[in-house]
Amino acid sequence: MTEMRTNTKKLFIKTYGCQMNVYDSDRMSDALVPHGYETTLDINHADLVLLNTCHIREKASEKVFSELGRLKELQTERRAAGGDVMIGVAGCVAQAEGEEIARRAPVVDMVFGPQAYHKLPDMLARAEAQRHVHPTMKQAIIDTDFPEEDKFEHLPAAKKEVTIKRGLTAFLTVQEGCDKFCSFCVVPYTRGAEVSRPVSQVIAEARGLVDAGVKEITLLGQNVNAYHGLDGSGRSVTLGELAYLLADIPGLERLRYTTSHPRDMDDALMEAHRDLDILMPYLHLPVQSGSDSILKAMNRRHTAAEYMSIIERIKKARPDMALSGDFIVGFPGETDQDFEDTLRIIADVGYASAYSFKYSTRPGTPGANLGDQVAEEVKNERLWRLQELVNTQTTAFHASCVGKTLPVLIERPGRMAGQVGGRSPYLQAVHLDGSTDLIGAIHQVEIIGTSTNSLVGRLKVAQAA
Ligand code: 5AD
Ligand code: SF4
Repeated sequence: MTEMRTNTKKLFIKTYGCQMNVYDSDRMSDALVPHGYETTLDINHADLVLLNTCHIREKASEKVFSELGRLKELQTERRAAGGDVMIGVAGCVAQAEGEEIARRAPVVDMVFGPQAYHKLPDMLARAEAQRHVHPTMKQAIIDTDFPEEDKFEHLPAAKKEVTIKRGLTAFLTVQEGCDKFCSFCVVPYTRGAEVSRPVSQVIAEARGLVDAGVKEITLLGQNVNAYHGLDGSGRSVTLGELAYLLADIPGLERLRYTTSHPRDMDDALMEAHRDLDILMPYLHLPVQSGSDSILKAMNRRHTAAEYMSIIERIKKARPDMALSGDFIVGFPGETDQDFEDTLRIIADVGYASAYSFKYSTRPGTPGANLGDQVAEEVKNERLWRLQELVNTQTTAFHASCVGKTLPVLIERPGRMAGQVGGRSPYLQAVHLDGSTDLIGAIHQVEIIGTSTNSLVGRLKVAQAA
């Protein structure tokens, strides 16, 4: 047994950014398992460190270079002790700034974008071979191509025992990339054009997850509701239709999806929300701004009124739908009135939660060429006011759940002994007293209170008839 240990190499992945990166990190680690790697949570034990990076805002990008500085120190220490560590940069910063990273940070062995993950074992073998020849004169291996082949076809599925360890909920990327070109956004450049995975691939992966005990799957895509994967007969299937197919998988109890674009909320998806209990009543539908002129400058291609009418249709299909959104404050040219319009749409919708950001100029996007930048203090003040409003709404939403009985998927032991924790259909964290035997199933829980960012519940004991 100990012999096997010494042959195993350790992989440490640090993930930044969105859920798609979380999913990708797992797939990269799955791809390296057949090559003798297992993941470690301790960077000091790692033979290979991968940074899975995010380019969405300036701050997210900057983190990469400061982390690479720390990794340089780690490598120096390791080498002084007669060992070594290999370093790879993956993700969206790698895609956008591959050459620049290799130039600025010679510590890096490999730089590769999201479309090259299936080539990771090959890149690693080449990087290792280079080290043996010339450890100090190496050149980083860079792969930022958008290849023709389907990377998912070449990425191995997770081993069942690995999926079991990952827990009861799982992500499943069904769509990648974006053709919408919002003027603030790097995604069309870092993730490329919109591509959907074929239906059979998605169903097979979902079945594998459920077979390993997963109860809840969140379908991922930068534009997940633009999904248009092909079925066996070559017909294009929408996300709504895919939901019906996934609902037929025995043992799958909950289905979610994120992130959606308002323009792709089609009737099939609304019908799926009306018909399928498995499809959770929580929708992340970013609007970004409530001002029509800003929406136009952002190239969102919908108005505030159109967004509101979509919300109305959704609520008709599923009256208890909880909504979440993304907002950008301080887009170039945003006036006080534009910002008031954003507060207004938030007040009108009533969000269960929302994510909000100060506009950050991203190189290569059309927004980067716009004049009329908003001053930093103004952005700070607007962000603060927006978050105050959203916090009030979130608190009100949590409070409205008190007294209700909600189905809660119990996922883990609670922070305190004798407690367990899980999630409501509306993605709220719920804590309750109960034994760990409850973990792994959906239980009826009476909501008896709220605490910061979560609900407090009591297991509902079924009444004898
Ligand atoms: N500046 C600020 N926020 C941004 N987002 C995307 N690009 C930018 C940017 N340049 C936000 C949007 C998007 C979320 C993922 O990040 O709100 O929906
Ligand atoms: Fe960040 Fe967008 Fe890349 Fe996700 S897809 S990691 S949000 S830049």
